[in-house]
Amino acid sequence: MIRQRLIAHVVGARPNFMKAAPTHRALKLAGLHQMVVHTGQHYDHLMSEIFFNQLEMPAPEVNLDVGSGSHSVQTALIMMRLEEAFAARRPDVVMAYGDVNSTLAAALVCAKLSIPVAHVEAGLRSFDRTMPEEINRVVTDQLAELLFTPSADGDENLLREGVAAARIHRVGNVMIDTLVRLRPLAERDGCVENLGLRKGGYVLVTLHRPSNVDDPVIFESLLRSLSEIAREVPIVFPIHPRSRSRMERLDIDKAGLSRIRFIDPVGYLAFLNLQINAAALVTDSGGIQEETTYLGIPCLTVRENTERPVTVSAGTNILVGSDGDQLRYELERVLGGQRKQGTIPPLWDGRAAERIADMLSQWFAAEM
Ligand code: UD1
Ligand code: UDP
Repeated sequence: MIRQRLIAHVVGARPNFMKAAPTHRALKLAGLHQMVVHTGQHYDHLMSEIFFNQLEMPAPEVNLDVGSGSHSVQTALIMMRLEEAFAARRPDVVMAYGDVNSTLAAALVCAKLSIPVAHVEAGLRSFDRTMPEEINRVVTDQLAELLFTPSADGDENLLREGVAAARIHRVGNVMIDTLVRLRPLAERDGCVENLGLRKGGYVLVTLHRPSNVDDPVIFESLLRSLSEIAREVPIVFPIHPRSRSRMERLDIDKAGLSRIRFIDPVGYLAFLNLQINAAALVTDSGGIQEETTYLGIPCLTVRENTERPVTVSAGTNILVGSDGDQLRYELERVLGGQRKQGTIPPLWDGRAAERIADMLSQWFAAEM
């Protein structure tokens, strides 16, 4: 009798859920046996549980409950608890997503236990090793057995780093699978109306990179520019818990800040509703650079570099750096009508997870 194979998905932080949900769905349709492990890296309802409901992901069978901590503490705790979880129930393949600490920890544990890892969103590089995510990406890709890339630059980066071509599979962008599936629901979500905003008449902001929000001088300069722009156009800023706690510590004129509409992080459908109807996005998020490219909405990325260059070369993304004055200049140009016309990159078509399921089925068949 052929033994039933078990695939474990390791997720932990907000951007993992949009990538794991379509993959889980496609593997289920392919008849594969699965379990979901949540590391607990993100734990607030609005950073985690809400996505399981909205994206129709099964509740995790295991929650490692690691919570927040320094990079080393968080990564080490995930490793210790994940090793125990996999000793109790050993998967045949582990799916790891993106570039967060949960991804790195999963890859390291699996490498030590000789469990093959499939890395979804492999090969992206900012070439900036001051970013914690770049370290996570490089190490995870070195350890992964199967590397699922979203775009051609991913393949090129991996080949240059010596990854065997046979392990690299360009499947497209799974995050876009979720967007394509849930867009009709998001269009009807009503978040824009509930906030009293006019469609096409506001700017949507998210900032959470340590390089922007952990440095008080940079964060203050960005907030000042946003509050100046908010004199002319409404700005809504669903604020990440890291950024909220950093902002509370800033010695900044609170009256100016009150022009910016800070709200708690919102669920996927509300956020997509806000993106679809925004005049422009200002962000340092990885996923939002991709979603705006797909939607054709102008995106100003508050970073010096990006691991997603296709969003700049093909999409609507513009890198504006972390200088508040530059941000204001670029945003005023976009609001003045100088919009970049973008195209959707190949294989960002809503079917990336299906291609992952096909590849995994073939891989299992070849293993037997
Ligand atoms: C992490 C990822 C980052 C990703 C982001 C997505 C790493 C190294 N970083 O950054 O790549 O873009 O998630 O959102 O993995 N906090 C809460 N509640 C929560 C989660 C976090 O209050 O549910 C607060 C805690 O004070 C915590 C801080 O946010 O210390 C940062 O959380 P952490 O997961 O360490 O990093 P993120 O900045 O969220
Ligand atoms: N997002 C969300 N609610 C918010 C902010 C973002 O649902 O309040 C979604 C966004 O649409 C995208 C994902 O979260 O799908 C991006 O995650 P995040 O910016 O936290 O992480 P990154 O992509 O930068 O790693």
